[in-house]
Amino acid sequence: MDAQITILPGDGIGPEVASAGKDVMMAVQNLFGHNFTFENKYIGGSAIDKFNNPLPNDTKDSCKDSAAVILGAVGGPKWDDPNANIRPEQGLLGLRELLGVFANIRPVKIFPSLTKTSPLKEDRLNNVDLIVIRELTGGIYFGEKTRNENKSSDLCVYHDYEIKRIIRIAADIAKKRKCKLCSVDKANVLETSRFWRDITKNTISAEYPEIIIEHILVDAAAMYLINRPSDFDVIVTENMFGDILTDEASMLTGSLGMLPSASLSDTSVGLYEPIHGSAPDIAGKGIANPCGMIGSIAMLLRHSLNLNEEANIVEKAMHDVIESGARTQDIAHNDDKILNTKEMTQLIIDKIN
Ligand code: IPM
Ligand code: MN
Repeated sequence: MDAQITILPGDGIGPEVASAGKDVMMAVQNLFGHNFTFENKYIGGSAIDKFNNPLPNDTKDSCKDSAAVILGAVGGPKWDDPNANIRPEQGLLGLRELLGVFANIRPVKIFPSLTKTSPLKEDRLNNVDLIVIRELTGGIYFGEKTRNENKSSDLCVYHDYEIKRIIRIAADIAKKRKCKLCSVDKANVLETSRFWRDITKNTISAEYPEIIIEHILVDAAAMYLINRPSDFDVIVTENMFGDILTDEASMLTGSLGMLPSASLSDTSVGLYEPIHGSAPDIAGKGIANPCGMIGSIAMLLRHSLNLNEEANIVEKAMHDVIESGARTQDIAHNDDKILNTKEMTQLIIDKIN
């Protein structure tokens, strides 16, 4: 297969994990005889430094012309002035909007040998296997923002069509699993959440009679993720709740560095990024965990290129390498030998081969 891929390394550890992702793509290409071409483009803080724009037109054009986009991370202390009106995150949010990737899929899978790395008691982690579907292009992230000396506001807006389409994505995924869907909102306080709940109920009862739907308030969901995480299967929620709950859920796996994500639209170009940020404290040291990125590569192969066998091989290789005891610093324990980003990536590539 021929495919054009845009790589947006971004900031902090972004370039280090993006390069791991590219190496894995090349390994898959060589093994299966595909022909992937890669274009590296600027986004976020590094694009602000070079072009004074977190999402240059050249980056936009390349992404729109690609089969898929790989993103490292954006942001960092250098661009953190709260009063600056150009910020790295605008690059990522602008890209999500440009590509229309409204469905952010964040699977939370436990690697059995990592349960002792999780801050949770090991027995809580038995049978945890959940997916969070986060609405990604609406809500408070994208509503109108205002500010003067005395007052500021962020508007949270949801249209019915935005809720329906994300619920359909979540229900389709739930159908292939346990037919259980948990919708998270704050319907006791927010009008957008009451609307979300009504649209969700109606969509499920009209179109997915086989799905058992449960509605949970976000504060309770945050608690249940810790005290009974194995009760969840597919969670669907709005943009900001999904952002917060997935960082929380990553702790079940032991490290934020383990979680992959895919951001999909109704049409074609998918955006693939680990859920972790730019981790400025370890940037440039070559020690970041590449697993969130490599899991995202597997999702890219599956969702954007329809290469299921390749995706399964990447996931299996990563699983076997982790289960054999290979550890980056974030998932290491006591006397574990600590691998750097390149060594961990190479072990996974050797396994793929
Ligand atoms: C994420 C990140 C982004 C978000 C930031 C960098 C804008 O935290 O992908 O979860 O809030 O969506
Ligand atoms: Mn986040």
